[in-house]
Amino acid sequence: MPPADTSWIDADRLSGVGLRADLDGAVLTVTLDRPQRRNSQTPGQWHALGDLGAALPDDVRVVVVRGEGATFSAGIDTRLLGPDGIPGEDSVHDLMRGDDDHVLETIDAYQRGFTWLADPRFVSVAQVRGHAIGAGFQLALACDLRVVADDALFCMKEPALGLVPDLAGTKPLVELVGYSRALEICATARFVGADEARALGIATAVVPADDLEATTGDLVEALLSSNAGAVRETKALLQSAGSLGLDDQRLRERQAQLRRFRALTARD
Ligand code: CAA
Repeated sequence: MPPADTSWIDADRLSGVGLRADLDGAVLTVTLDRPQRRNSQTPGQWHALGDLGAALPDDVRVVVVRGEGATFSAGIDTRLLGPDGIPGEDSVHDLMRGDDDHVLETIDAYQRGFTWLADPRFVSVAQVRGHAIGAGFQLALACDLRVVADDALFCMKEPALGLVPDLAGTKPLVELVGYSRALEICATARFVGADEARALGIATAVVPADDLEATTGDLVEALLSSNAGAVRETKALLQSAGSLGLDDQRLRERQAQLRRFRALTARD
């Protein structure tokens, strides 16, 4: 087999902002790679992630998001919230020098670093060990599935810092745990451990930390064993199921099945 085309992965840009992307067949693994800063996140990473998602070819079927080391992600690099910021990165103080439209557009671009993970062309899996705080929790929530080590601790820290979760995490959190529990988790900014995360539906699976890689690998293998086109259509259907009425959703099911019938019989 010829080597996979990885020309769409800008490895230098990614490593410059503390990210890695490794392609293995149909599986892309994205690693937050700043363990010395507990994989805290920056706008440069969010822009790079959004662009990576936009460049992703159709033959990527699974995206795994993980953190290097013992922490998934400690959220935003908190230096960005202070007056000194980080050279080369937009701090909150930098942002406040622009008008409101500029701030709103900038946050919209940040959010693209998260929302690409909902693309129905692939299934996204967060592999979470240790802390997933603030933007880290929201990154895990941006994925379709979360495989979680038993030492995982989720926290929506933003309200404790006078902020709101604004990286596209509020919708998936409410969809997973319901409005009241989501409000309680966010408004108290408390830690949610692995067992509670499983009980609430945040964690798809909870395993001993030593088994995290193998369990993620088994899940990825199971996802790849299903028909690629059917998984894509099914993900899109399940995404619309919560917001559409029954008749509209039934219509989408029929249309998707028609496409599947056409695709399957075209092979005969
Ligand atoms: N930003 C920048 N640096 C961070 C960081 C962060 N979010 N979290 C940890 N670090 C750095 C520490 O400053 C420390 O650096 P030095 O070695 O140079 O001192 C190093 O990482 C190790 O940190 P700890 O010793 O604290 O590591 P720990 O394993 O004992 O604790 C932790 C880990 C519980 C995640 C703790 O570091 C922590 O609470 N971090 C801050 C979490 C936080 O408040 N994040 C912001 C959430 S809000 C958000 O993300 C949303 C938003 O957009 C506003």
